[in-house]
Amino acid sequence: MRFSVLVTLFGVGAILMAVAVVFMYGVDGADEPRTPEEHGRRLFRLQGCATCHAIGGGISRGPDLAGLIPRLAARLTDDVYRAHLDSLNVARPDVYDFFAPRYEGIFNVQGDERIKVWFAQHLKNPRFDHFTGLMPNYSHLTEDQVDRLTAFIMTLK
Ligand code: HEC
Repeated sequence: MRFSVLVTLFGVGAILMAVAVVFMYGVDGADEPRTPEEHGRRLFRLQGCATCHAIGGGISRGPDLAGLIPRLAARLTDDVYRAHLDSLNVARPDVYDFFAPRYEGIFNVQGDERIKVWFAQHLKNPRFDHFTGLMPNYSHLTEDQVDRLTAFIMTLK
């Protein structure tokens, strides 16, 4: 008799746990973003980026990020970026020298890859190529978080 009570309790417990697991996964499944882009969009909100950056209209303390990728592509072509860095070197040779290895990393790659490398540097220290910049550092982000934010910003065409 006692044994069968135990078995029943065990059975009920197992069912309750199964229901709990299904419930949790159900909630996660509905709430958790799936793709890196969706994760990135969520981080954009959670990390406070959205408090300074509108995307396509609205109040924006920093630049509105609509159309970001073509804008960055134009700014990061060899000639344009070299000219920008040359003027930085004149204004602040100390900043230029300190960050010079990062500029090399950017010139070493082309196209979308260049935008991604630039963006990772921008997150670490937005003043690395723009010494009067007002955006805060995001050097606390993990590699995964940077990858996901990158996936998201690459959609801003
Ligand atoms: C406190 C306001 C603020 C926050 C928070 C902020 N930014 Fe910025 N961001 C700026 C400003 C201002 C600029 C313009 C350059 C500068 O001043 O550094 C900028 C520039 C940028 C640019 C370049 C835009 C362009 O058109 O040149 C990107 C991309 C960017 N931020 C992404 C982000 C992301 C991603 C986050 C969150 C991880 C973030 N920002 C958080 C203020 C902010």
